Amino acid sequence: MTMKKTTLALAAALLPLLAHAQDAQIESKVAALMKQMTVAEKVGQLHQISGRLVTGPTSSDYAATLADIRLGKVGSMLNVKGVADTRAIQALALQSRLHIPLLFGQDVIHGYRTVFPVPLGESASWDMEAIEQSAHIAAREAAAAGIHWTFAPMVDVARDPRWGRVMEGAGEDAFLGSAIARARVHGFQGKQLGATDSVMATAKHFAAYGAAVAGRDYNAVDMSNQQLFEVYLPPFKAALDAGAATFMNSFNTLNGIPATANVFLQRDILKNSWNFKGFVVSDWGSVREMVPHGYASDLADASVKAINAGSDMDMESYAHIKHLEDAVKSGKVNMKTLDDAVRRILYKKFELGLFDDPYRYSVASREKAVLADPSHRAAALDVAQKSLVLLKNGAAGAKPLPLSRAAQKIAVIGPLADARRDLEGGWVVEGDRAPVVSILEGIRSHAGKAEVSYAPACDNHCSGTEGFAEAVATASKADVVVLAVGETWDLSGEAKSRTDITLPGHQEQLFAALKATGKPIVVVMLAGRPLVFNTIAEQADAIVYAWFPGSEGGNAVANVLFGDYNPSAKLPITFPRSVGQIPLSYAQYNTGRPVTDEKNVVYKSAYIDSVNTPRYAFGHGLSYTDFKYSGLTISGKEMSPSQQVTLSFDLANTGKAEGTEIVQLYLRDMVASVVRPVKELKGFQKIHLQVGEQRRVSFTIDRELLSFFNSQLVWGAEAGDFKLMVGSASDDSRLEGALKLLPPK
Ligand code: BGC
Repeated sequence: MTMKKTTLALAAALLPLLAHAQDAQIESKVAALMKQMTVAEKVGQLHQISGRLVTGPTSSDYAATLADIRLGKVGSMLNVKGVADTRAIQALALQSRLHIPLLFGQDVIHGYRTVFPVPLGESASWDMEAIEQSAHIAAREAAAAGIHWTFAPMVDVARDPRWGRVMEGAGEDAFLGSAIARARVHGFQGKQLGATDSVMATAKHFAAYGAAVAGRDYNAVDMSNQQLFEVYLPPFKAALDAGAATFMNSFNTLNGIPATANVFLQRDILKNSWNFKGFVVSDWGSVREMVPHGYASDLADASVKAINAGSDMDMESYAHIKHLEDAVKSGKVNMKTLDDAVRRILYKKFELGLFDDPYRYSVASREKAVLADPSHRAAALDVAQKSLVLLKNGAAGAKPLPLSRAAQKIAVIGPLADARRDLEGGWVVEGDRAPVVSILEGIRSHAGKAEVSYAPACDNHCSGTEGFAEAVATASKADVVVLAVGETWDLSGEAKSRTDITLPGHQEQLFAALKATGKPIVVVMLAGRPLVFNTIAEQADAIVYAWFPGSEGGNAVANVLFGDYNPSAKLPITFPRSVGQIPLSYAQYNTGRPVTDEKNVVYKSAYIDSVNTPRYAFGHGLSYTDFKYSGLTISGKEMSPSQQVTLSFDLANTGKAEGTEIVQLYLRDMVASVVRPVKELKGFQKIHLQVGEQRRVSFTIDRELLSFFNSQLVWGAEAGDFKLMVGSASDDSRLEGALKLLPPK
């Protein structure tokens, strides 16, 4: 071993020891501090209130809040941001008897000043480096503005596009969702908590919030433990393993018990079985909401039930601050329970270095420099173009995209063509955000010799048709039409559930009017969820699904339209044909009566008025080039539980442009003690190939990959036959093979 290698090996061996020593040091500082604290001061640490910005119903009085901070009655604030404000408010906390600094939290969901695509959009990139980078930049900007803690990532699996919050997550799949959860936690938190270019992450909303009945926000959730463990919990576990410092519980009940007072979720699973060391914050007012749920008789009862169940910090319910001291005195809550919650929060404050310097995140010169860093826009462009999904590109032969920059006339039409705010999507931070490039602006600056004309046709919601005649006239004079339609930013996100997820207003009518001109129509669609748009899907010449692509959205769209970026994104969520099919996922069960022939569905598990298949399947997304899959080999037909096999195949770029393919590995466990889905994603890789290039791609398959939770919720693989599928989408399997898992010897 060389000297350098020896030193490195020694350092690697010492790291866990150092971390352990640091833990012990913090533990003893926390213990010493807690010895000095009164019960009231301890309760204060569990009280979190909002600053002047509110993100939910509130009755708080801001002046009283400021007084409470001086008295040590507040542990954390949300919605206070910027160096000036965070410094001013931190100074109040330092006037309290024990000078315990505040934690400042904020919903930094997809960017702070620079706005990145909404999380569902970014998830379509299947690009863990880009997603991590996006979270890192958001953290860097937020931390420079005095924020210690983001309420992100939302790792709720969501299979119901009526639910407005699908926009905030990673889509429908546990495997992809887990990878993205890890990437986001790593991005927000960086290598070490306390670095001033990182913030603490929050895995939210624990748990199963995405499965609200009928897609109605805040609604009840009823679900088998099988589903919970298999589909909804894995991204949380992944976030925890990646080091997520905090968890947030959720508004919903789970099988009749509010998540906020759910012992099974917060104590049995999170804190005991998973050994989570951070703290749990309630969702906004979710402690108080246990009264209308019919689970707590009043606010005092809600406080007791929440803390006893493992919900540590109370966001905006005023339950603990008003009632917990009495509950401890009367013995309804043990001092040990209170101490455990307080210890978890103080630990994080020490870990962030706030006791050494309470203002370390609030440095004016850093705020100025970081918020103006031009590299952030470049990263926003990178991930935005990686998240644009080419849903359709012509029929056989004729492909309208990419557009030519030669002398031709491009008509840019539609209510969202020159929109800016709508490109940012929901959950952006109020205040001075980076300027947004509209789609029209992007197209104009990328058009070369092409001539660009523009007609909005209607207002953002397309509430009238008065402008259609002018739009049709503009289209008639052009060679090709780019039509920008979709949802406005405020139609998805929290409390934005919809029963009708078609295009709002008269947008379908606008499409029909333009189609009648006979010109080729390229549709660019903005949305925070899968929309239903059957006529456009059938009749448009090309469709680019742009989600809400952020500050650089217009440039990203233009790069894709003109072929400067060859689209590579794949859908992270199924697009239904109608609301009636929801919830719809590729990972469904076969049933005893599967449809094998769409023409003969009588007494099959089918609808009499629709096919079962989605409009666009999970994993779907086209490219300007073609990829050929061939030569599948599996290194063994059989495998013992301790072995692994390698599945390999050749991927070739057989088209005319360099491009990236996201290859997907799915499997089906053919017979098991609990029926298994017809397909489960178990691997993916992003492969970039030059024209004519071919590469051998491999996946390793081991017992872990074949495992699932049995009816006793025990994780493991069962001997038997597995079908392995690789392909370009969940409905586009290109190569298939078989594998037998042998029983243990
Ligand atoms: C949302 C959370 C959010 C919190 C604070 C709640 O209404 O459900 O996701 O972090 O508000 O703004």
